[in-house]
Order: sequence, then C-alpha cells, then structure tokens
Amino acid sequence: MYLYNSNLKSMELLSQQDKKLVRAHDLTFKPFLSEEKILKRVAELGHQITNDFKGKKLVFIGILNGAFVFLADLVRACDLSCEITFIKLSSYKGLKSKGKVTTLIGMDIDLKGRDVIVVEDIVDTGKTLYQFLKELKTLEPTSVKLASLLVKPEALQYEIPVDYKGFDIPNKFVIGYGLDYNGEGRNLKSIYQLAE
Ligand code: IMP
Repeated sequence: MYLYNSNLKSMELLSQQDKKLVRAHDLTFKPFLSEEKILKRVAELGHQITNDFKGKKLVFIGILNGAFVFLADLVRACDLSCEITFIKLSSYKGLKSKGKVTTLIGMDIDLKGRDVIVVEDIVDTGKTLYQFLKELKTLEPTSVKLASLLVKPEALQYEIPVDYKGFDIPNKFVIGYGLDYNGEGRNLKSIYQLAE
C-alpha cells in the first residue's frame, strides 16, 4: 500500500518516515499533519472536555469507521468517567459523498438524561452529522456536543456546531489516523493529503 518517495535512499527513509509519500489504491498522498501535531491537539481537546464536564459521567458516541482512532486517543486524554459506544453511518464511497446517509449499526445505550459527546473524524459537507444529530435529539439526552478532529469549512453545506475541533483543513481529500480511501489508509499514524 505504501509508495516510498523514489528520490530518497533507504537510510534516509528510515530517518524520515514522516516525509514519505503513501499510496492507497490508485492515488498518492503527501504528508499533511504529523502524529506529534495531532496528539498535541487531541491532548488539548481532552483537557478542555475534562474541565467542561467535571464531576459528570459522559457518553462518547464514536461514528464508525473513521472516528475509532481519534476516539481512542481522545477518551484517554479525558480525566473523567465515561461510557463509550459506536454507531455506523455511511454517506461516502471513494472520494465523494453519496449524499444519502444510512444507519448501519444502532445505539446500545439509553441516552435519556445523559451528557453526550459525538466523536467524528471529519466534517466535510456536514450531511452525515446533520441528520444524525437530529435523530439523536429525539432520544432526549441532557446535552449533545460534537468533537471532530478535522473540519473542511469550504465544503460545509449544513450548519454544524463543532464544539471540540482539532483542525480546519482545506477542501482536499485526506487519509490516515482513522480516515480511509476506499478502506485503505486508516492505520497511518499521521494524516496525508491527496497529492496534486
Ligand atoms: P459529510 O457527511 O459530507 O460531512 O461526510 C463525513 C464523512 O465522510 C466522514 O465521516 C468521512 O467518513 C468521510 N470523509 C469526508 N471527507 C473525507 C476525507 O477527506 N477523507 C476521508 N474520508 C472523508
């Protein structure tokens, strides 16, 4: 899956892991956000959530598949007691949103009277979350906040309040740290952007 930059010698590759190009299926991606930068920001978000919800027992809802890495790091950066569940929605295939959101795996925690944080990898058009947040409110939680590692402001078509945001990024396709291109790239430690 990985395409190493042919301009680099193998020894250089070992010491410059973060500078390599990667290939997923037919596309090449270049380094965009380093693991160090991501983890620093996730720690800050965890600290912020810990302060905002002191003494409360949160429910984190991770949106599968993309949010699993971000959620794993985020909950461990939060110093509070919590429950964690996942939901699977889908509006994406390849590089484009299909525009239709389908719920594939449902909720297994009673959210009535609970403080909830929905965890998403990336907000692109916002359609996935817009529909899901609307459905979530019918389950009568006390509060719903949204954490998203990435937001593409230029792609947004729906008003989505992101309470805990990692980074605003340009409207270009990215993979890594849970994000995929047709199933590949999720296990990359840092985030890579589609090369021109
Ligand atoms: P939205 O409904 O258009 O906001 O799409 C959100 C979902 O699309 C995310 O949860 C991702 O699964 C996927 N997605 C959007 N942009 C990207 C990207 O740049 N890389 C990988 N997946 C993406």
